[in-house]
Amino acid sequence: MFITFEGPEGSGKSSQIALLSAWLQQQGFAVVQTREPGGTPIGDQIRACLHDVDNVEMTAVTEVLLYSASRAQLVEQVIRPALAAGKVVLCDRFADSTLAYQGYGRGLNLDDLQALTRIATGGLVPDLTILLDIDVARGLERRRVGGQEMNRLDLEALAFHERVRAGYHALAAAEPERWVVVNADQPVANVQAEIRRVVVSRLEQVHLAVSDQE
Ligand code: TMP
Repeated sequence: MFITFEGPEGSGKSSQIALLSAWLQQQGFAVVQTREPGGTPIGDQIRACLHDVDNVEMTAVTEVLLYSASRAQLVEQVIRPALAAGKVVLCDRFADSTLAYQGYGRGLNLDDLQALTRIATGGLVPDLTILLDIDVARGLERRRVGGQEMNRLDLEALAFHERVRAGYHALAAAEPERWVVVNADQPVANVQAEIRRVVVSRLEQVHLAVSDQE
């Protein structure tokens, strides 16, 4: 089962994924936790280039090709093998980040991005995508206060991040069977409880579907 986590900056994805991963392992699931961009040695090199605040001259097309290159490597090297081995894969951002940030945020053509995404992923689509939703200004503030390193995209204007968040809502509305929106502006434990409920119910559905076939 392939689960992705999306959201604006400061939505708390990485902490929530770490908590979910530990809990799923306690329940006996084999879990692979990864992230984009990065998650492989090649992907991590691409990540460093993408997030370097000195790379002010990077064009939007260069940016999207680099995110896609990192994704292609991650899918082949990590995600597909893990899914084939029956593991639960938890990925911090995936192709929807490209649609939200480079599509809705930067204004690149969404159909072109869908085509590029199909090349990068070989058509792999998450079984479940959890949108950790938070007000943009509040998310950026949480990030600053948390002392996390600010990347090239964090430094974009508030209007850019507002477009990204609106883009996420549009993507979630277009595919309600895949997306679940969770309010990330609540205590960590409450957000985690909601995520666990969603994941457990999805795992049960998959289990029932498999038993029906047997
Ligand atoms: P994060 O690891 O802190 O979430 O940072 C990843 C940054 O990269 C975040 O600002 C979103 C951005 N991003 C894109 O713009 N497009 C993409 O396809 C991906 C995966 C991330």
